[in-house]
Amino acid sequence: MAGFNSENTNGFHAGENGDAGDKTAGKVITCKAAVVWGPGEAFKMEEIEVEPPQRMEVRIRILFTSICHTDLSAWKGENKQQQVFPRVLGHEAAGVVESVGEAVEDLRPGDRVVPVFNGECGDCAACSSEKTNMCAVYAVDPMRSVMRADGRVRFFWVGPDKARQPVHHFLNTSTFAEYTVIDSACAVRVPADVPLSRMCLFSCGVSTGLGAAWNTANIEKGSKVAIFGLGAVGLAAAEGARLRGAARIIGVDINPNKFLKGREMGITDFINPKEYTKPSHEVIRELTDGGVDYSFECSGNLEVLREAYLSTHLGWGLTVVLSIDPCPRMLPIFSMELYERKIAAAAFGGFKPKSHLPALISNYITGETKINLDGFISHEMPFSEINQAFQLLSEGQALRCLLKL
Ligand code: APR
Ligand code: ZN
Repeated sequence: MAGFNSENTNGFHAGENGDAGDKTAGKVITCKAAVVWGPGEAFKMEEIEVEPPQRMEVRIRILFTSICHTDLSAWKGENKQQQVFPRVLGHEAAGVVESVGEAVEDLRPGDRVVPVFNGECGDCAACSSEKTNMCAVYAVDPMRSVMRADGRVRFFWVGPDKARQPVHHFLNTSTFAEYTVIDSACAVRVPADVPLSRMCLFSCGVSTGLGAAWNTANIEKGSKVAIFGLGAVGLAAAEGARLRGAARIIGVDINPNKFLKGREMGITDFINPKEYTKPSHEVIRELTDGGVDYSFECSGNLEVLREAYLSTHLGWGLTVVLSIDPCPRMLPIFSMELYERKIAAAAFGGFKPKSHLPALISNYITGETKINLDGFISHEMPFSEINQAFQLLSEGQALRCLLKL
């Protein structure tokens, strides 16, 4: 769509109207945000107040945001424990730092950044270890809806009676707003000359899928792979498998419309479980002489996880869980079955955002890693059409809807 590649961020500091960060720093900013007031209620474009960043926080002007299934689940309030409203959802985005709080050393106003829901402090035992990307301080926490620094929010809605009502945060990020405040540990700087509209995808879905294939599964050339759920997360895992030279990539989805897109993105075989009387794991085992080497659960459904688990080869098969079942439940796997096949999960594809994302992005830009990023963007629309974008994802018509703020 025209206009989306002209990002107009040259010389940009804070607002697009030329109000440089040095004018707004330390002050409350009034801007637009898509606020959800109750589970499944339409987003309302509200004027909200965004407070300045506190110690180790940054305030970011969001320029692009896209919608992931996790936003959809939170919007619907599928997990009752997560029903915190009013709230600013959104966690896949790209933007520019407007101002930084005290003691922030690695970011400056004007830096282009992607917010990441799974932060990296760089100091804790987890950040010092090669074995995990789950930072002890800033790892993803779906239950958190306030800032860590002081247990307060930075967003306020001002009612007609001038009373300030707190608006809650989401997944360390809250990107459905023109300005957001996040922990500096959750902002990754990207080069100045890259299209932010594409960087947006590295903020969650694409990194999660690629990382699951490369870091968690570490797929070898010639492997057989099955992907359950062909949304952006699943197709990014497929892309990761393709780039590693997988011989066969079987896509499983109940929505037949996903198959056409999947073929473009490297899926070699399709299974629509609705077209078979036997379970998909049996179909896959028959197709692959005993099962795939790796399977990926990207549909957010525990029954599907069981199918994914049983579809791998006895002995060495590994299932990687990328999705989150919105309602907390125990795994549908018998303990004895754990002797037969392996299972692992990874948040943000196992990538440490600040340590690993810059290299991933730079390899994309130089063409060293030929990631088909454009293939993930199915729709582009203005931020004001966020309700329509949610509708498209909800109906299974969209991969990623890119919203321009
Ligand atoms: N069997 C197979 N596929 C299914 C099933 C099922 N029973 N149920 C849903 N799916 C498919 C959907 O048709 C859709 O194509 O799973 C896909 C999910 O894709 P999206 O809704 O686009 O979700 P995405 O943004 O890719 O996120 C996938 O990761 O973010 C997490 O937990 C979140 O569940 C989400 C998952
Ligand atoms: Zn840490």
